[in-house]
Amino acid sequence: MDKKTVRDVHVRGGRVLVRADFNVPLDKATGTVGDTRLRATMPTIEYLREHGAKIILCSHLDRPGGKVVEGLRMAPVAKRLSELLGTPVRSVRDCVGQEVEDAVWELKEGDILLLENLRFHPEEEADDPNFARALASLADLFVNDAFGAAHRAHASTVGVAIYLPAVAGLLMEKEIDSLTKVTANPERPFAALLGGAKISSKMGVINNLIKKLDMLLIGGGMACTFLKAKGLEVGESTVGEEQVPLAAHLMELISKNGTKLFLPTDVVIADAFSADAHYKTVPVDKIEPGWRIMDIGPETVKLFSAQLEKCKMVFWNGPMGVFEFPAFAEGTKAMARELAHLKAITIAGGGETLAAVEEEGLMDKMTHVSTGGGASLEFLEGKVLPGVAALQDK
Ligand code: 3PG
Repeated sequence: MDKKTVRDVHVRGGRVLVRADFNVPLDKATGTVGDTRLRATMPTIEYLREHGAKIILCSHLDRPGGKVVEGLRMAPVAKRLSELLGTPVRSVRDCVGQEVEDAVWELKEGDILLLENLRFHPEEEADDPNFARALASLADLFVNDAFGAAHRAHASTVGVAIYLPAVAGLLMEKEIDSLTKVTANPERPFAALLGGAKISSKMGVINNLIKKLDMLLIGGGMACTFLKAKGLEVGESTVGEEQVPLAAHLMELISKNGTKLFLPTDVVIADAFSADAHYKTVPVDKIEPGWRIMDIGPETVKLFSAQLEKCKMVFWNGPMGVFEFPAFAEGTKAMARELAHLKAITIAGGGETLAAVEEEGLMDKMTHVSTGGGASLEFLEGKVLPGVAALQDK
């Protein structure tokens, strides 16, 4: 990465403002949080502790819309961070102001403070310069480790970098380095396994990667649109009609580039869009009217797996079916297991993709699983992420 990281600067004794992406799932009943993104930020926090920094963590949580929402306070995140780090993490009930300044001045080397949800202030998303200056005034150095929020030009991702020396955290570095392998110089043969509902949300990625892709394998809701564009009956499957010409255009583009396209050959269909619908597995040309595609079938899993085994690098984004319903999660889980045992470089990204890998306990079997949803897609589309652009060059 051509940006400075926390390793390139002096941190001992300094107050370091760390922007993290602690936008995590919150179980309101139990007060517990999903901790994948917290664990991913551990290397940066531990590095700063070992090097004697005074650590001021900050993040957004969900979309409170510029006002205080009691259920979206950061206290549960502070509690889980304390457990993971084995040291107290103090939280405060705002992210700027006197209480926060007092708490910052009490920090000793290695201490950790977590500021309140940044998005309780409308100035955060507006990238308000006064708010950015107030945040920056708490610290001597800004470390951005929030790759998942790097596509947002907000006060805490871009604005503060005007007032403080700004460098990348270790997660940010790992994300950029791993995703750059996909966009810049992938090992060949290189395959992309794409799923999820809409082709339009993946168009930019396909356009940017197509010249380097040897194979494109498509599952999930997107596959229905391709099947329809090929003239197949897809029953009640949700196919945005406006997406069908896009699929036809993509097929043309794919064949012009000599990329091999693989679509499902069998699918799990259901008589309703619900977790307890009746379902059966059929070949793709035997979908009856009134039924809808909910997952890829076992023959497709075998076909996709056989192709991926020929590859030296695989990028995966998007579920293969309606992953939130257990009966229709098997295709996605099977592909997670397949990627985990490949010898290839395997890079996965996106919220549901990450959830599938995690549920199967395969996080450490992939080369890299991105913590970014929208951010990883924008990066792979070739866009410059404002949160990265704001950091100092090496
Ligand atoms: C994410 O979860 O993708 C990031 O935290 C960004 O959240 P946002 O889409 O609410 O800006």
